[in-house]
Amino acid sequence: MSTQPIGIFDSGIGGTSIFQEIHRLLPYENTLYLADSKNAPYGNKPKDAILQLSIKNTELLLEKGCKLIVVACNTATTNAIKYLRSHYDVPFIGIEPAIKPAALNTKTKVIGILATKGTLSSELFHNTSDLYANGIKVIEQIGEGIVPLVESGQVDSDEMKALLERYMQPMIEENIDYLVLGCTHYPYLIPSLTKILPKHVKIIDSGQAVAKQTRAILEQREVLNSSSEAPMNQFYSNADVSVLTDIVDAQFPVAYLNF
Ligand code: DGL
Repeated sequence: MSTQPIGIFDSGIGGTSIFQEIHRLLPYENTLYLADSKNAPYGNKPKDAILQLSIKNTELLLEKGCKLIVVACNTATTNAIKYLRSHYDVPFIGIEPAIKPAALNTKTKVIGILATKGTLSSELFHNTSDLYANGIKVIEQIGEGIVPLVESGQVDSDEMKALLERYMQPMIEENIDYLVLGCTHYPYLIPSLTKILPKHVKIIDSGQAVAKQTRAILEQREVLNSSSEAPMNQFYSNADVSVLTDIVDAQFPVAYLNF
């Protein structure tokens, strides 16, 4: 059991930002990553479509023998994790926008959140926001168009810069001091966002928290990999594999899989 892989899925390559945190914290764990790039973006799809895609990815990871599944996608977590947890025995770790630390630490009492439409309109997000952001102004911005650009390798393009400037402008005017990245594709934009935002604005995401939670659950279930051999970290994409190949370290195998 302990040598079985941790399964990770996302609508595409964004969840590799979560893989990196998991691999840093749990360097001996075998992992299997599914990039459902053929169906990206999930963010504009109806809840039921997001659920069906999450089920498809989960079943494939279970077929491959995964001992735990990380839903490395805020959109899939906020729309499908409740269903997944109640229908499958394996533990699921999800990712949600880090509203809580931003709301607790803000000095200006104004925070920004950049996420997909699917995440911002979800019940789970609203509940978290209502719970922690009482008395705080939360400026929500849908990151329309960002995921397709990341998926086509255009992280540093002029088009991306123009989009980010447009999305950050109202937040800068309202004097945010925290920007919450609520989509796993967005950590790749931190260098560009840092150039656009005033220096005092802190950018936060939930990657490290997900990795810590993954370790805690593996420990609790006593299924941490006790081997100290080099692990297998496999990556599969159901679309053009070149973008995934470019984003992950060359030491990891990337392959096409029809799913
Ligand atoms: N990476 C995803 C997220 O965290 C999904 C983005 C999308 O496919 O729209 O929300």
